[in-house]
Amino acid sequence: MKNRNILIINGSTRTNGNTDTLVNKIIEGVQDSQLVILKDKRISNCIGCMQCLEKSTCSIDDDMTEIRNAIQQSDILIFASPLYWGGVTGLMKTFIDRLFFYYHPSNKSLISRKKAVIVTPMNQKDVNEEAKILIAFYNCLLSCLSVKIIDFHFFDGIMEKGDVLNKPEYLKRAYLIGENIIHENV
Ligand SMILES: Cc1cc2nc3c(=O)[nH]c(=O)nc-3n(C[C@H](O)[C@H](O)[C@H](O)COP(=O)(O)O)c2cc1C
Repeated sequence: MKNRNILIINGSTRTNGNTDTLVNKIIEGVQDSQLVILKDKRISNCIGCMQCLEKSTCSIDDDMTEIRNAIQQSDILIFASPLYWGGVTGLMKTFIDRLFFYYHPSNKSLISRKKAVIVTPMNQKDVNEEAKILIAFYNCLLSCLSVKIIDFHFFDGIMEKGDVLNKPEYLKRAYLIGENIIHENV
């Protein structure tokens, strides 16, 4: 077992929804991690000022400053967001837009070579068709930042708050995502 710093980013809009439940199970499995709940944070939209590309600094002073520190201290980033219209939630997209900071060559090494795990609760069952835009999106984002995606985990067929509680196999899978990370099975 290796000591790895795990940062979980929860982009769900719903308190005690399916994402929260799955994230809590991952946390149980991983035992030691840091959690960022995006809906509890003050994160402004990227305003496209390009200061990050020109000066390698962000012009916006908000909670992204502390989140960037957490990112930089982590080895593995877990992006957890329900599927919304074939993509991530607005909360997660706003957060991801702000990762443009790392596109500057002198900032890129602060995130590159980290690993990522993608966790996506969703309603529809045809994952490949329904989530193909999401998969392409994460592949594009994380390859641009030189972050290696370890795995995508889809939890389909869950719509209402609490649906995931009726699927013990999903709770077990989420626990194992955490456990496999700390045991280096990924
Ligand atoms: C605005 C909105 C858009 C959604 N879009 C999709 C979608 O494109 N495909 C899908 O399978 N489920 C979709 N869903 C269902 C959610 O992914 C599902 O309810 C998920 O379990 C919500 O997670 P939560 O409980 O953490 O909020 C959507 C739900 C909402 C509210």
